[in-house]
This record gives sequence, C-alpha cells and structure tokens, in this order.
Amino acid sequence: MRDCIGGRDAPSHTGLREALRTAEQGETVVNITMNMKQFMNARPRVKYIFFGGKGGVGKTVMAGAAALWSARQGKKTLLASTNPVHSLSNLLEQDVFGKPVQVSGEPNFYAFEIDTRDTIERSKREIREKINWFLKFADITTKAEDFIESATMNPAFEESAMFENMMDLIFKDEYEFYVFDTAPTANARRLLGMSKVYSLWVEKMLKSREEAKSLRELLSFSKKKEEKDPLMEYLLGFKDRMAQAKNLLTDEALTAFFFVTLPESLPIAVITRFINWFHEFGIPVGGVVVNGIIQKEQVGQDAAEFVLNRIRMQEEHLEEIDRIFGDRVRAAAPLFETEVKGTGMLGRTVDYLFA
Ligand SMILES: Nc1ncnc2c1ncn2[C@@H]1O[C@H](COP(=O)(O)OP(=O)(O)OP(=O)(O)O)[C@@H](O)[C@H]1O
Ligand SMILES: [Mg+2]
Repeated sequence: MRDCIGGRDAPSHTGLREALRTAEQGETVVNITMNMKQFMNARPRVKYIFFGGKGGVGKTVMAGAAALWSARQGKKTLLASTNPVHSLSNLLEQDVFGKPVQVSGEPNFYAFEIDTRDTIERSKREIREKINWFLKFADITTKAEDFIESATMNPAFEESAMFENMMDLIFKDEYEFYVFDTAPTANARRLLGMSKVYSLWVEKMLKSREEAKSLRELLSFSKKKEEKDPLMEYLLGFKDRMAQAKNLLTDEALTAFFFVTLPESLPIAVITRFINWFHEFGIPVGGVVVNGIIQKEQVGQDAAEFVLNRIRMQEEHLEEIDRIFGDRVRAAAPLFETEVKGTGMLGRTVDYLFA
C-alpha cells in the first residue's frame, strides 16, 4: 500500500494556515503536498468515495461538499447516507429520506438517506423465507422463529443489511459518482472486513448444503432431481456479490476513503486508528481532511481567553496532524461563522475542500 502513516517532508502547520488563507484569496494552495483536486485528477476513474471519522467532526458536511463538487463538474452524483441517524435532509434543507431525490437547483446532484428500518425489515423477511424453506427441506420441525431470532437479533445483522443496501446502490450503477457518508463508528471498516467473513461463512454453508443435498438425492427413492433450491441460489448469488464488492472497494483506482478530523486530540487518535485498520484490510485511504480551524487572523488579541486558548490548542494539534499524516493531508477548512447548511454554504466548503 502506498499510503501509510508518517514519513515525508512535512509541510509545517503554518502550512495548513497558509492553505486556508490562500484558498480564501483564490490562489493555489502550495503547502499541502497533494491537495484534493490533484488527488482526484491523478485518479480520474475514482467513482466511490467515503468519509469517516469521529462523531461530529464534519463528515456529512465534507461528503456533501464533495458530492456538490462532483455534480458541478457535470457528473451525475449520488450522495448517500448509510448512517442510521441521518443528517442529509438537514444539511440540504430538503427531504431526501427513503429514495434518491434531486437537490434543488443542482441538476446532477442526488441525495438519499437509506431507510435503515425498512432495509432491516426486508432482510429479515428474506432470511425468514429462506430459513423456513430450509427447515422444511431438511425435515426439521423446530420452530423457525428461534433460528430467525438468532440470525437477525444482533448488531452485525443490521450492519450487514446496510452494507448490502449500499452495494445494491453501487451495482445498480445509475450514477457516475458516489459519495457515502458513513456512520461515526468503526462501521466502515467492519463492513468491509465483513465481506471476508461473509465469504468464509457462505463457503461453509454451501459445502454443508451440497453434502445435505447429495445425501438426500442418494436416499431418495425416486430418482427425480431436486427441485430448485432457493437457499443455495441465494448463497451463490450472495457469494458472488461479496467477492465483487470486495474487488471494487479495495481497488484504489475506483475507491477512496477520506478521514475528517478537527485539530483536537480525540478525533486525531480515532482516525489514526482507522487508517491503520484500513491498511490491514487493503482498503484505499485517500487522505485526511482537517476541519474547523479557527481563522486566527480574524481574532484580535483582546478576544476572550477561551478563544485564545482554543487557538493555541489548535496550533499544537495542527502540528501533530502534520507530524502524523504529513503529505496525506488533502484539505483544510476553517470554522465558519455559522453551521453548514444548504448548497450556498456547501459551495463555500467546496472552495476549501477542492481549493
Ligand atoms: N467548518 C465548519 N464550520 C462551521 N460549522 C461546521 C463546520 N463543519 C461542520 N460544521 C457543523 O458541525 C456540525 C457537525 O457536522 P457534521 O454533521 O458534518 O458532522 P458529522 O461528522 O457528520 O457528525 P455525525 O458523526 O453525527 O454524523 C453540523 O452542525 C455542521 O453544520
Ligand atoms: Mg454525519
């Protein structure tokens, strides 16, 4: 993997501040070794991007800005949220829950908050049908509910349902560019790691299914071939899709994960861990976006003590970011005077994210 933590000639933390200033003046950002725009230009086939990081750091805002940028480049773009606690409708100030909706005034920009509950219910129904079929097939008289319960009453099931939903969107291939706003936990990585676990699991299931099937055929008096086997078909299809998902999500020509952080210790620690995990799984890390930098030029020396303290604290953490992530910092965005809402504010964020 090319991207790993540490190394390189660091642009100084004053470099990040410089990046902010120059972005404001509309000049080229010279202090970030490879900025977002250069990164994307160097990978013209990238089609799936993700934003991860600690809770509340600005993932949704950055995902929104990236989607707006792509749409304004003329690409039909989908911004999708797989986070059960949605915030896209709030960000865009329009209802995008349950189905992809075109963002007003932006012809290429579609947003979609996936209906988690509906997805999970649907998956449960499907699993129930398959388990029922299987129990009948295997002449097992146990109550199906017990099986169904144990298969669906765990958090991994919900995550897997969301993962499948995301992959369905990708496989439908109705857009030219996809931006995923992921949940604040380690989900993204778990989801991807799961594709490996899934394959192993399905392999095992398939094997025992094959054995059961041939035994049944052997014992059967009539030589009539087994009728269609929905469970087997489902498992085969599932296995295929998982393999495809893994190929796609680990292909650095197509996929990039970005990590958002504030100049604060906890969010930095979180993404440091994430990046290491992602490397282990061979998932392409696109880089780091630093959000919420207080523009010190706008603060006078007579400002309240807590503001001056915060600035000092940020300075230290900007240095740390520099030390840890170095040439993988792709962008720096200031703390705006208001929260980021609507395409107007998102447009302003784009100016920094793609300076
Ligand atoms: N640079 C910024 N300047 C001002 N406000 C910001 C900035 N970035 C984000 N915000 C605001 O901070 C809040 C959190 O941002 P956002 O929802 O993008 O974070 P998140 O990482 O997606 O959070 P969650 O983990 O809850 O999904 C929002 O109200 C957003 O408008
Ligand atoms: Mg969010």
